[in-house]
Amino acid sequence: MGLAFPHGFLFGTATAATQIETASDNAWHGLKAKDGSVLLETIEHEKHREEDADIIASLGNAYRCGPDWPRLQTAPYKPLAKTVVNEYRDFFGRLRDKDVYIMLVLHHFTEPRWFSWEGRDAPEMFRDYASRAMDAFGDLVSFWNTINEPAVYVQTAYLNGNHPPHKRNPLIAYRVLKHLSKGHRLAYRAMKEKRPESQIGISNNTMVFSAEHPLGIIPAGLSQLYFHNYVPDHFTEVDFVGISYYGRISFAPLPLTEIMAPGKLEERGRKHDMMWEYYPQGLTDILRRYWKRYGKPLIITENGCCPVNDDDTYRVVSITGHLRAAHEALSEGIDLRGYFHWSTFDNFEWGLGRSYRFGLYSVDERTFERKPKPSAAFYASIAKNCYLEV
Ligand code: BGC
Repeated sequence: MGLAFPHGFLFGTATAATQIETASDNAWHGLKAKDGSVLLETIEHEKHREEDADIIASLGNAYRCGPDWPRLQTAPYKPLAKTVVNEYRDFFGRLRDKDVYIMLVLHHFTEPRWFSWEGRDAPEMFRDYASRAMDAFGDLVSFWNTINEPAVYVQTAYLNGNHPPHKRNPLIAYRVLKHLSKGHRLAYRAMKEKRPESQIGISNNTMVFSAEHPLGIIPAGLSQLYFHNYVPDHFTEVDFVGISYYGRISFAPLPLTEIMAPGKLEERGRKHDMMWEYYPQGLTDILRRYWKRYGKPLIITENGCCPVNDDDTYRVVSITGHLRAAHEALSEGIDLRGYFHWSTFDNFEWGLGRSYRFGLYSVDERTFERKPKPSAAFYASIAKNCYLEV
């Protein structure tokens, strides 16, 4: 018995420049993560492009990634740096030669030092960047994400201060959200004007929020409102809605995550990785919810796990569980177009560090040697056959 996915369904993996390339001139450069690792060389993707393109092509017919904005554009409104454009064009060309569709993310948590979403000119500057990126890469890229997970960006950079610029200011957070939303709209229109056939969307971070204590009802409700309604409603001028899904957060009354309350999920006998509770069935509910609310084609832009001790069996179970949930949504008639596994390689997990391993491939920290984990062959075969054995 098995589950067949539609012909042409996108199966691929996802990364972000800051997490896999050597750190450029941006606010994350040299930051020390929770596990003590320092964001500098990460996994030297820019020096392994040929090999990485082969790996990526073996893992599906699509790849979601982002170019490094700080390297591409060194000042506001400046033409993109030719050598950097060529470096990416060469890499994207390689992927296209292997019939891999590219989804390009323009803003994935990092920006050049000369840019801040707080500034009044930010939306216009972002439009300029997006439109130049379309000129530079539009012939090679089929899908675009203007902004990765605006809700998480605003929360981590401007509400809880965990990510640069490390602010905790709701008024600035509100302004930044408005600028992200306007930047998205301006970019969308400028890009569509250049290439009407390109598919441009947003990627929303989604989790299931639930209350397991009367005092958890309000925080769960507010999180739901913020992540599933308030922020996504700012990004509706899209051709598709991207869904990034990692699990469930229950409020009991404090949030039950491995990051904020280590050991608590274990105490309750709940399956989890180093960050979140395993809750694949929630993905079907999320897909239903976003389909009903926005009525646009959906793409799972990220889903993955960072198992304790990098237990790869957990990863295989997790891929199976989430693809089953995705298939259920398809069978209900929801227009789901693809699934991107996070991530192709073990990489630098932002403020937590490189010991949080999400990859289908491991990367040696000294030699940068890439090695497939068993889950890589498992996922590659699903992607190749558009079929999940259950
Ligand atoms: C982000 C990725 C991150 C992943 C795992 C997503 O929210 O887009 O950059 O590595 O979650 O935490």
